[in-house]
Amino acid sequence: MNITVNITVKLRRQTSRHSEPTYQIFHIEADPDRTTVLDALIKIQNEQDGSIGFRRNCRNAICGSCSMRINGQSGLACQKQIGEVMGENDTELVIEPMQNLPVIKDLIVDMTKFWDNLAKVDPYVSTASRQISKTEFLQTPEQRAKLQAAANCILCGSCYSECNTAAISDRFVGPHALAKAYRIMADNRDDRTEERIQKYNESGFVWDCTRCYNCNEVCPVEVQPLDRISQIKHEILANPDLPESTAQRHRHTMVDLVKEDGWIDESKFGVRVVGDNFRDLKGLLSIFPLGIRMVLSGKMPYPWQFQKSEGAIEARALIEAIEKAKNR
Ligand code: SF4
Ligand code: SF4
Ligand code: FES
Repeated sequence: MNITVNITVKLRRQTSRHSEPTYQIFHIEADPDRTTVLDALIKIQNEQDGSIGFRRNCRNAICGSCSMRINGQSGLACQKQIGEVMGENDTELVIEPMQNLPVIKDLIVDMTKFWDNLAKVDPYVSTASRQISKTEFLQTPEQRAKLQAAANCILCGSCYSECNTAAISDRFVGPHALAKAYRIMADNRDDRTEERIQKYNESGFVWDCTRCYNCNEVCPVEVQPLDRISQIKHEILANPDLPESTAQRHRHTMVDLVKEDGWIDESKFGVRVVGDNFRDLKGLLSIFPLGIRMVLSGKMPYPWQFQKSEGAIEARALIEAIEKAKNR
């Protein structure tokens, strides 16, 4: 049964990259369970204001063109029914452009940075050194299955729009690029796996992710970028030939300190991670001013104030049990 209700749509509008955004209110009649957000936008454009700007193409969650923020979360406008995105207490449907990319007009963003970041992971299977026949290069079902989740990506940008690291870091390539990085790395036809692992171990790639889970939450096609990032990290950590990066040292030091004292002793942490246990003088000097400021403002306990935590023995036993289980 069709139930038509009045819906208030609050649309963020912007005439150019540097203009101030404003919100415009529209009222439409629609069945919330049968009308997608994209249908609503098209209705508004056809019947009320032909000047509103948004991207769309397939209307079927395939092309990735129609990603935008809908009631505070990025997603595909053609995939979301109005009833699905409006909670019981929501009085209006708020539609905004994706974040972390500059607006060109209304809901249309400039995706240059998104594509440039994708290019940084070299997103093509390289077969230069392989003797590949001119006929098909067959993969087993198991080899193909490893690529499945990442290969689903439709490059819509929803994950990038919600990424906390992308919001504050220019160097971070983003979840979409790292999902693609894993897709190529896991492909048995690619002949540059070692080189890729080294590259993704550098700053700007997997170790910059803060594990906020937003990308997994919003991805419309179950790529689960954070899971792909974790898979790349596992490959890096399993590679004995790679020199230990600051990010890896950060991870190892956290575990070592909890094993030693049951918690993280900040005074040792900086020295071991940034100072590489007194081997990196430049790193040590770089954290010295921060250390002084922390001591002066009472944020850094003196070394003698650190006691082993009461749960240190249990914490150590837990970590050792996990390490033992992993090495089985
Ligand atoms: S990983 Fe998902 S959310 Fe990110 S670009 Fe690909 S399809 Fe879109
Ligand atoms: S989990 Fe990492 S990559 Fe995904 S949105 Fe958060 S910071 Fe970005
Ligand atoms: S219009 Fe193609 S994914 Fe929405």
